[in-house]
Amino acid sequence: MRIVALVSGTGSNLQAVIDAVAAGRLDIEIAAVGADRPGTKGLERSAAAGIETFEVNFKDYADRGEWNHALTAKCLSYEPDYVVSSGFMRIVGEEFIDAFDGTYLNTHPALLPAFPGAHGVRDALAYGVKITGCTVHIADAGVDTGPILAQRAVEVLEDDTEDSLHERIKVQERELLIEVLAELAARRA
Ligand code: GRF
Repeated sequence: MRIVALVSGTGSNLQAVIDAVAAGRLDIEIAAVGADRPGTKGLERSAAAGIETFEVNFKDYADRGEWNHALTAKCLSYEPDYVVSSGFMRIVGEEFIDAFDGTYLNTHPALLPAFPGAHGVRDALAYGVKITGCTVHIADAGVDTGPILAQRAVEVLEDDTEDSLHERIKVQERELLIEVLAELAARRA
């Protein structure tokens, strides 16, 4: 099974996937890793692991449609079985969703459908929930919507900050993503 991963930030979830592949725990091929902005840690990590990287920089395009078209074409060129958003913070458009219908995976640091959006951890903390967690789902054209593949619960501790909670969620998120990818790969094989 071949994947393309998309990152906007540090890419620590992606690093866990790269490590699992290197350790022989996960039998997939990471064909390429792409970012929507220059200078992301996620691309640095991928390049260091010898993975092909690309940028489709949002700021280089006249509008969202053109950017979306370029991103879609670039991802299609690798003929992936799945595209994985691993902390990719930009909403992709219809053209992308149509091209990767049912094969665009997203990870989210909350128990969807609760707390979608860019601040899932902060919003869960502010609401005062005692249990939150993470979700891996097939992304559709909405914000963190689409069929849920797997979830894990994480307890909120009394003295949690957004950062401390997010770090504990990410520990689970990484394992969950690897688990889901392993299962999808096994199904394909
Ligand atoms: C993850 O919690 C992801 O779900 C969220 O941002 C975080 C990405 O972290 N959208 P990293 O870039 O993998 O470290």
